[in-house]
Amino acid sequence: MIKVSKFLAMSAIVASALTMIVGCQSKSGPKKITIGFSQVGAESEWRTANTVSIKQAATDFGINLQFSDAMNRQENQIKAIRSFIAQKVDVIAFSPTTTSGWETVLQEAQRAKIPVILLDRGVDVKDESLYVTLMGSDFKVEGERAGNWLVEYMNSKGRGNETINVVELQGTVGSDPAIQRKAGFDEVIKKYPNYKVIRSQTGDFTRALGKEVMEAFLKAEGKNIHVLFAHNDDMAIGAIQAIEEYGLKPGQDIIIVSIDGVKGAFEAMIAGKLNCTVECSPLLGPQLMQAAIDLKNGKTLPRRVLTEEGVFPAEVAAKEFPNRKY
Ligand code: AHR
Repeated sequence: MIKVSKFLAMSAIVASALTMIVGCQSKSGPKKITIGFSQVGAESEWRTANTVSIKQAATDFGINLQFSDAMNRQENQIKAIRSFIAQKVDVIAFSPTTTSGWETVLQEAQRAKIPVILLDRGVDVKDESLYVTLMGSDFKVEGERAGNWLVEYMNSKGRGNETINVVELQGTVGSDPAIQRKAGFDEVIKKYPNYKVIRSQTGDFTRALGKEVMEAFLKAEGKNIHVLFAHNDDMAIGAIQAIEEYGLKPGQDIIIVSIDGVKGAFEAMIAGKLNCTVECSPLLGPQLMQAAIDLKNGKTLPRRVLTEEGVFPAEVAAKEFPNRKY
């Protein structure tokens, strides 16, 4: 049997180990790390899964999360960040709506000595010391993967030398994923002069706007459209509805490739209405919490933490569906 004194000594060791894990100590017990997180909004299935991942991970890691939804507005994010600074949180994290316009508020965070983590999306700032790390996907590679899949698919169908007219539904104007996915896709497509992007417009990453813009594309181009490249699955799902209402078959009359890999996209692929989704994982919560703990413990984080992702064509959708976590 363990003696009381021995038991107390062991408890003290466990308590101090726990303190090390969460990174700070107070007389009344380990003080929880507080993260202030400013989320873009709730524009897509991806974003909802990302929010769930962050909230769940905060609970699992015993972190106090101050969560703020910016409703797709940069000014709301700036306000939230200022309020996190005033509250003296331990770490500020956010997924920026757009890449530009962050210098001033990030300098304020730096002056307050609060480290900033960029989650999911990057910013365009001259002084890179304004944030400690960017954790998330390589959006340019995602665009390239969409382009490469398309070219291979068309070749496999014997359509490699045909004129291929592509319409593009872009994400939120000025956002990191919209800029990079476009760049990656264009870089691949421009190697093949028979591929032409005949229309390109923002659908703001939402189903509603994806549908609306696709309706306009169809009105202007009709059966001239061979391919839709959508910067996310939600816009593709909205566009699928527009294509059906127009009297065409999505996935057959118009080949569709989009990005994210949400369950809705797998359902559309199983129904034969979407041809491919390029994965972009929203499950970033645990690595954000771990990063906050590491920072508190004085560790230096890598400047860039990349998420590993795949490509899922319709042929594998039914088999993969049960494994999807978002
Ligand atoms: O930043 C990630 C992108 O934002 C996702 O692809 C999109 O669905 C979301 O709204």
